[in-house]
Amino acid sequence: MIKLNNICKNFRYKNTEIKALNNINIQIDKNEMVAIMGPSGSGKSTLLNIIGGILKQTSGEYLFNNKVVIGNETYMAKFRSDNIGFILQHFALINNRNILYNIGLPLKYKNIEKSKIKEKVISIADSLGILNKLEMYPHMLSGGECQRVAIARAVVSSPNIILADEPTNSLGDYNKCEVLDILKRLNKEGITIIIATHDENVARICYKKININDGKVSN
Ligand SMILES: Nc1ncnc2c1ncn2[C@@H]1O[C@H](COP(=O)(O)OP(=O)(O)OP(=O)(O)O)[C@@H](O)[C@H]1O
Ligand SMILES: [Mg+2]
Repeated sequence: MIKLNNICKNFRYKNTEIKALNNINIQIDKNEMVAIMGPSGSGKSTLLNIIGGILKQTSGEYLFNNKVVIGNETYMAKFRSDNIGFILQHFALINNRNILYNIGLPLKYKNIEKSKIKEKVISIADSLGILNKLEMYPHMLSGGECQRVAIARAVVSSPNIILADEPTNSLGDYNKCEVLDILKRLNKEGITIIIATHDENVARICYKKININDGKVSN
């Protein structure tokens, strides 16, 4: 499903070049659940962002279902919208919009009818135990609830892949377990899941681990 061939990503900052990813070769198959592990600054988020079509590699080739992922921003936006659900480190919810709006946002971008969006959001919110929060705003929710909203937003558009960047970082043990159970359930339902994490508890539920050190895959 995902194949990265010799992927490099350099960032340029004040005339110095930072090699965030250095010759990455990995393959991730459909329905896998993968942990990307490595110390802070090793390149985990950069890798997720390339897989998610948010960042473009400096060199190398990215194949998705045997097709090269390359194109202008319109093409990449469609690639993301058709395939990817993101769960970001700090939830990235819109604070002045209610939970219903936040979860439904990816469908709004797809020009889906308002009543259909509401229907879908209600069913997902129900399955994640946040149905009674839809009219509230993010600041009224606990960390664990915000994380569930972020998960709901990631799955609302029925993505093939969920990319989660440190999804348990800001959570206590109880909420952590809950989020992990939800991710496991989504994987059982057929979604490929890739998680960047420091958390051994997260890695434990993944069948496959990819270790990154200094921008390189290590074992
Ligand atoms: N936009 C950018 N401009 C310059 N350097 C960047 C940029 N984004 C990332 N980097 C650098 O690339 C390297 C990899 O960063 P990345 O965010 O992928 O690490 P990470 O493994 O996700 O770390 P953490 O565990 O702390 O989240 C770091 O040295 C970082 O400073
Ligand atoms: Mg990171």
